[in-house]
Amino acid sequence: MNTILITGASSGIGESLAKYYATQGFTVYACGRNQEKLDKLASEFNSIIPLVFDLNDKQAIFSALDKNIKLDQIILNAGTCEYIDNAKQFDGDLFARVINTNLISVGYCLEAWLPQINTGGQLGLMSSSAVYVPLTRSQAYGASKAGVSYLAKTLSIDLARHNIGVSTIHPGFVATPLTDKNDFPMPSRITSEQAAQAIYRGMKNKHYDIHFPKRFTLILKTLALLPFFIWRKLAIRMTK
Ligand SMILES: NC(=O)c1ccc[n+]([C@@H]2O[C@H](COP(=O)([O-])OP(=O)(O)OC[C@H]3O[C@@H](n4cnc5c(N)ncnc54)[C@H](OP(=O)(O)O)[C@@H]3O)[C@@H](O)[C@H]2O)c1
Repeated sequence: MNTILITGASSGIGESLAKYYATQGFTVYACGRNQEKLDKLASEFNSIIPLVFDLNDKQAIFSALDKNIKLDQIILNAGTCEYIDNAKQFDGDLFARVINTNLISVGYCLEAWLPQINTGGQLGLMSSSAVYVPLTRSQAYGASKAGVSYLAKTLSIDLARHNIGVSTIHPGFVATPLTDKNDFPMPSRITSEQAAQAIYRGMKNKHYDIHFPKRFTLILKTLALLPFFIWRKLAIRMTK
């Protein structure tokens, strides 16, 4: 039986991933802080094992998983999003919160769990299509995810000789509690179940760039080809 560890499995994309992998016959180590939600998941699927801890606590990460367990896949999905509403009154604490949860914790997870991934295994790091072009108010979130994308790409080079594949995951808008808070239009928003299936397929086929929905991400990828001065002009006009 295949085994996967998923962070952020108590909600949104991670919860749908945990359920989908369980239905595909995987043993799923489902991580999060919300014990109640993880226990409910485990009561629905015998093959889901909850691991409750805060990703900002390095010691908790290291003691969460039995060192003898071998993993076929890891998806470091957990994350948070907070916007910088006024760039002139830059909120450094907000910036640190987002970078710590979305990027620094990923380094701790890699240190703790990469030794437990099997040869031929697959690692997925959750970035965002927000990294394709700089977006208004996204200084903290965008910087954290740009860091994740860079990290994933460099890992895919250095883990190749260990026969461990790396997928960078770039979703467009997905309907979850995280995006329910947004007060702006979210074109091509898909369900978390659709997102989970796209990620499952991409991980199974060892794609190094998993992006969806294509009708949205391909537009952003095209905009990213523009010289920055053109995108900057457009983005400033859009914020007015
Ligand atoms: N939704 C989108 O449109 C979208 C688009 C692109 C990328 N993403 C990325 O996809 C990932 C999942 O997002 P989502 O939309 O599914 O959000 P969500 O429903 O808010 O879920 C976030 C998950 O991360 C966990 N988490 C957050 N901070 C944590 C911490 N300090 N320690 C442990 N777990 C923590 C939460 O656990 P608890 O609730 O148990 O604390 C929850 O399970 C994020 O990395 C997000 O940036 C989302």
